[in-house]
Amino acid sequence: MKLNMQTVRPLQSPLGPKTIPMTSHWFGSWEVAINRRPHAQQDLTRRYDAASESWAQTSRRFQLETAYRTPLLACGAVSVLADAGPDARVLDCGIGTGSLSIALSNILPDPILYHGIDVSREMLVTADAEVRRAGMSAQLEQADILSIPYADQYFDVVMAAHVLEHLPEPQRALTEMIRVLKPGGVLFVCMTRRSVFGTFIQLRWRTWAVSEQQGVTWLRDCHLENIGFQPVSLGSCAGQASVAFWAQKPVEGPGRAQISYPATHEDRVP
Ligand SMILES: C[S@@+](CC[C@H](N)C(=O)[O-])C[C@H]1O[C@@H](n2cnc3c(N)ncnc32)[C@H](O)[C@@H]1O
Repeated sequence: MKLNMQTVRPLQSPLGPKTIPMTSHWFGSWEVAINRRPHAQQDLTRRYDAASESWAQTSRRFQLETAYRTPLLACGAVSVLADAGPDARVLDCGIGTGSLSIALSNILPDPILYHGIDVSREMLVTADAEVRRAGMSAQLEQADILSIPYADQYFDVVMAAHVLEHLPEPQRALTEMIRVLKPGGVLFVCMTRRSVFGTFIQLRWRTWAVSEQQGVTWLRDCHLENIGFQPVSLGSCAGQASVAFWAQKPVEGPGRAQISYPATHEDRVP
């Protein structure tokens, strides 16, 4: 029998390839998976525009500035920024109302200029007020994390909290973040984690709930080194609903992808 490869088409979901995996279970040799189409970018931007006034309050309820503090201390950003001196550059992608940048400024000994991008104009307006209130100076710009308006290797630290889980292809955002990161610079991302609260967020915002293994695999695939991660405890009733990942861009050649595990964490990445 002659098989004409041209006529063989892979099965495709009617939703198309750009979906976000919500859950999957194995039954013997069967995998049952549920994927969901994410909000279109314009819808998501509209939702965050509408949420901008209450978001600073939401951030306070979940004590985000406190929650980000421990992983930010663990990721090595402080020493990288100290080495860079007064011209150190930080980019906060999807800055929202500024919690992550404010958390970083709270652990740095000296003030620096923060850069922030977000697709939501209204979020940026609130971020401007919040960072000023925190005594910081920031340069804010409306832009997509998939197309960051900065030159290659511009920043010492590039970070994003609770942004990548909105994207059907988070790896594309990681690639773009790494493009603007200097060799030796620190990448820091925090994402919603698989948990009861994470499922609630998934259902409400159509986001990923990322496993530790998944996040580490993404960073390893980007050839980063000194990869680390730890669960992040949010305030209120959310528990450990997020997980922070960090890594360094190799100074030269491909990364060694060494992974540091949190001391108490049971999840072991193969
Ligand atoms: C859950 S909020 C997190 C805000 C902030 N990082 C924090 O931790 O409080 C997600 C933010 O990401 C922004 N965002 C979503 N998709 C984006 C994209 N493709 N590019 C840039 N920002 C995006 C939203 O507008 C929103 O401000």
